Amino acid sequence: MTIDQERQEQLAPSRHLSLPPDFLWGTSTSAYQIEGATRIDGRGPSIWDDFAALPGKIRQGANGDIACDSYSRMQEDVDLMASMGLNAYCFSISWPRVLPDGRGALNQAGLDFYERLVDALLARGITPVAKLYHWDLPSALQAQGGWATRSTAHAFADYAEIVAQRLGDRVDYWLTQNEPWCIAYLGHIIGVHAPGLKDAQLGVAVGHHVLLAHGLAVPRIRAHTRPSAQVGITIDYYPMHAANLLPETREALLSAEAFRNRWFLEPLFKKRYPERLFADLGVAPPPMQPDDFDIIATPIDFLGLNYYSRWLVQSPSENGTPYEQITDIPNASYTMLGWEIYPPGLLEMLQQIQRDYAPPALIVTENGAAFPDSWDGEHVVHDLERTHYLRQHVQYIEQAVAEGIPVKGYFAWSLLDNFEWAQGYGPRFGLVYVDFPSQKRVIKESGHWYTSFIANQRKNDYPAG
Ligand code: FCB
Repeated sequence: MTIDQERQEQLAPSRHLSLPPDFLWGTSTSAYQIEGATRIDGRGPSIWDDFAALPGKIRQGANGDIACDSYSRMQEDVDLMASMGLNAYCFSISWPRVLPDGRGALNQAGLDFYERLVDALLARGITPVAKLYHWDLPSALQAQGGWATRSTAHAFADYAEIVAQRLGDRVDYWLTQNEPWCIAYLGHIIGVHAPGLKDAQLGVAVGHHVLLAHGLAVPRIRAHTRPSAQVGITIDYYPMHAANLLPETREALLSAEAFRNRWFLEPLFKKRYPERLFADLGVAPPPMQPDDFDIIATPIDFLGLNYYSRWLVQSPSENGTPYEQITDIPNASYTMLGWEIYPPGLLEMLQQIQRDYAPPALIVTENGAAFPDSWDGEHVVHDLERTHYLRQHVQYIEQAVAEGIPVKGYFAWSLLDNFEWAQGYGPRFGLVYVDFPSQKRVIKESGHWYTSFIANQRKNDYPAG
């Protein structure tokens, strides 16, 4: 096959899917990763501004000061989505833009920005999915203890209510938290994300307070939204595979599962923490109050799930950690972040969540791949690997729906190349290339593929009833 034939083949839309016309096909972003404008219109500082300012924390000393400048280019980005035929957009609201000190004085200009964004989306027929927290905690709250303090959970619920009061008459999809595991573990146990702390005991308290924040916020959001509103939380999930049949591998697998997948799902759906979690982490359970689990497990309307890869697990050769992840699998393909490309894992995740937790609905809120794309300044960006990645993953969405799993939407990460946290601007995840010096947006081949795939999917006659 010539390269051109291969490209044709990969760009051809998949076979027809039979998904309902209101299925949400979109892209996801987050405020700190795309907005820039960190000191504009009254936004307060966040822990990511502070963390990025510390020497050596972010590749090449990058930060989100400018990012994709989406704060100023909001209308352009909404038009871009419309031109791509997307019918949904999952974005995050920056807490320090709305409440510069985390609580107290409201910054009207910040809230106005999100109102303009939502109105612009609705005007183009794009369903807004508003995430209230994607890691940019106001610095003022961190100074008071941040997520390690129970009062931050209450501050979050107050903030959620303020946003819902303003946008609840037009936003129907709400996410409270994004990936609590990353907040607790990456931010507070190994310290590679903001606020950069390294304290496992504190990390489990953080995780608990993030869950509590979610549970406290759900009724506060519902109080100001339409009856049609759907409120959920996003969890990142990695299907676990055993590297061999040894009994100790089975044990390792259970530990990896508890740590990476069930730490947050068990409290949300079963009002408990996984049995071995705290012992494996070498810590005591976090401080809890008697009705915390009832609050945390407040029923949600949908579960958001982020899928990137699977884990292949074996028992460790030395004592220390309870499991070992194999990261050099023969014949496997990896993205530039070293994440194995494993499309069937998307279906496995949906099946396992449905089997173990059966949420009323599921939405894949992130799925994507980083590659070092480049643009010649003129032509389309040929990101064949990402096109292939997308194509292979979305086919498993159809299969999940065919199996009766109530999947209602799929969001590719990400609309734009953006600030990839500690990795800076090297790894590009966008379906749209961003030439950072000029801020020019160029739809990549994968973006064009997604457009034709969605158009093709909509042409399909969905059986009525
Ligand atoms: C997820 C994050 C998102 C982005 C992708 C690549 O864990 O939610 O912000 O960084 O990974």
